[in-house]
Amino acid sequence: MEEEIEVVLDKYRAAGRILAEVREGAIERVKEGALLLEVAEFVEQSIREKGAEPAFPCNISRNEEAAHATPSIDDETVFGKDLVKVDIGLHIDGYIADSAVTVDLTGGENAELVGAAEAALNAAIKIIRDGISTAEIGEVIENAIREREYKPVVNLSGHGLARYNAHTPPTIPNVRYEHGVILKENDVVAIEPFATDGAGKVVEGGNVAIYGLRKAKPVRVSEAKKLLEEIEKYQGLPFAKRWLPRERLDLALRTLKNVGALREYPVLREEGGGLVSQAEHTVIVTKDGCEVTTKRP
Ligand code: CO
Repeated sequence: MEEEIEVVLDKYRAAGRILAEVREGAIERVKEGALLLEVAEFVEQSIREKGAEPAFPCNISRNEEAAHATPSIDDETVFGKDLVKVDIGLHIDGYIADSAVTVDLTGGENAELVGAAEAALNAAIKIIRDGISTAEIGEVIENAIREREYKPVVNLSGHGLARYNAHTPPTIPNVRYEHGVILKENDVVAIEPFATDGAGKVVEGGNVAIYGLRKAKPVRVSEAKKLLEEIEKYQGLPFAKRWLPRERLDLALRTLKNVGALREYPVLREEGGGLVSQAEHTVIVTKDGCEVTTKRP
């Protein structure tokens, strides 16, 4: 049975409030010399302590990485003079808040690049309302970024949110777009412009540290069977390799991958090696505007 819309929206709002608090704590911890793993664990533990669950592993993507980087299990990587994107997702009863911020550890050299993604996000939030087309949103995002002489990343986009689904239609493009979709009151969407001084496109590359269950498949290898049971609790939402029991993990993952049970999320990098900035909020579309669930308290 469908829950009452207000009950559902209240869960989105509660998720957003928790996210805003966790995000502030994460920003304080992103410092030159600090471990990436410590920040990711802080984020994921705080989410659980506050009564929510991660909707995906804390993404910590640096410099030319745009998304889908997360520390490995014994990761000893520390922040250098990096341009750091922290992308956080959490849910309450499946209702998701998704927000990202860029922290500039380069000594302020990239303040304008960071500002370009933020300005694009703010411009989008300003025009979102019942009846707006995603094509218009893409256009204001692109304009805000190009005015500042950067490029939007064309193949990354905002997205709808649904229960236990962190990426549903509609796609919210970061560029002008031919065929928009009309947003309606009570739609919940994540707006996430990415700006770059590179080529304006991302490609897959590097290690996979984030997975999702595509479809449960029968497997005979007992390690794989156990792992399948373990990951079913994420209800299709992405999870980190470091969240999983370590014993014979690679064998179990390989087996599940080979039968087509797993979805992989490879790190996405700027094709031209450019730096990438990102800003993201989750919003509920209203009759004459939108409500940002993940805004700063
Ligand atoms: Co998102």
